[in-house]
Amino acid sequence: MDKLIIQGGHALHGTIDISGSKNAALPILFAAILPEEGVTFRNVPDLRDIHTTLKLLDVLGCQCTHDDHRATVQAGALRPEAPYDLVKTMRASVLCLGPLLARIGQARVALPGGCAIGARPVDQHLKGLELMGARFDLEGGYILGHCQHLRGAHITLDMPTVGGTENLLMAAVLAQGETVLENAAREPEVVDLARFLRACGARIEGEGSSTIHIQGVSALHGADYTIMADRIEAGTFMAAAGITGGDLLLRNCPYDELEAVILKLQSMGMLIEKTADGVRAACPGPLRGTDVKTQPFPGFPTDMQAQIMALMCLAQGASVVEESIFENRFMHVQELARMGADIKVSGHTAMVRGVDRLTGAPVMASDLRASASLVLAGLAARGETHVQRIYHLDRGYERIENKLNAVGAHICRVAEQA
Ligand code: UD1
Repeated sequence: MDKLIIQGGHALHGTIDISGSKNAALPILFAAILPEEGVTFRNVPDLRDIHTTLKLLDVLGCQCTHDDHRATVQAGALRPEAPYDLVKTMRASVLCLGPLLARIGQARVALPGGCAIGARPVDQHLKGLELMGARFDLEGGYILGHCQHLRGAHITLDMPTVGGTENLLMAAVLAQGETVLENAAREPEVVDLARFLRACGARIEGEGSSTIHIQGVSALHGADYTIMADRIEAGTFMAAAGITGGDLLLRNCPYDELEAVILKLQSMGMLIEKTADGVRAACPGPLRGTDVKTQPFPGFPTDMQAQIMALMCLAQGASVVEESIFENRFMHVQELARMGADIKVSGHTAMVRGVDRLTGAPVMASDLRASASLVLAGLAARGETHVQRIYHLDRGYERIENKLNAVGAHICRVAEQA
């Protein structure tokens, strides 16, 4: 297992290219089960979760290639089983449920367990698929699903779940008749999935709003599709410019999809502007505290909560963070405290009082975005920070230390035992 050793205190200056979006690529790769013809994807990030997805697609009977940000998937004779070994390493594996039921009328998918950021049930996925005619049993830790032919249904989600919306969207494109998804997630990654499905011949309207209409078609064809840029990676690098007092140009950076994050970073004193070449993120003066409540899109994303908290630790005054999406997403707090942060958590709320400096320390990453917040804190801390268990980071950030070192950071990756 690797760890990152970060020498803090270097302002970041230069240009970073934003990679393709992990959270858009995962459902879109699973959607490649749906067309009968092969599909080609571009701008696919080179990440552990992408490798896991391609491995799972292979187990499910697809032929896959992945090289230099290009992937191809050709669904062959499909097999219904997504084994626990793969599902336990990546909860998003459950996104094969809808496509498998739509294509072969059966699925045997290991139930994803709890994870560091909470219980994360999939009841809404199952409820929607049942309304479309699927039946489910639970056996030996596996969800067994079967159906004759899915039919369109009127589905109102209890909450705008991202994965649930994606699973149901993928199932509905091949169902008989019309599906209406109400209280659907509006995240840009859902929009990207709908665009890909439409490129394959699906009939979808309303993605990006709370109500999505899908007219089922009998078959989908192949497509050549470019995955959207990663808004959370971009937001994390904006935060890196902020916490180090740097000045970065982010190329291929989604801007409109990051509006809630940009407004908060600006209210903390950052300069963020669109330029002809990308988005400039700079921090000309001291950071000021602010308040953040995580919400479904277009609200402030929970996937940026840990990173903005790292900035708050060094901002003037107090900040309040309210986490309203996941019940247990403050695991980074105790690690930031080890670096000298002043944070008090009460239920879903964290009160952060800015301190003059953070000091390097050995810290432990507990989940993907928590890891990113520790890297940010390490970039600004006095001395050396050792971020352990960075396999979380490798699930979601492409070569993060290379990208940061290229703009002035001092980070090295070493085997943990060394
Ligand atoms: C996706 C993202 C993740 C992000 C999250 C919220 C991917 C691969 N992951 O996760 O990075 O943090 O959206 O923006 O895209 N819930 C239920 N029942 C369900 C489904 C969800 O109760 O059937 C609850 C969850 O426990 C959670 C909330 O709804 O509290 C949001 O979850 P959801 O939007 O489904 O997140 P994911 O799709 O798992």
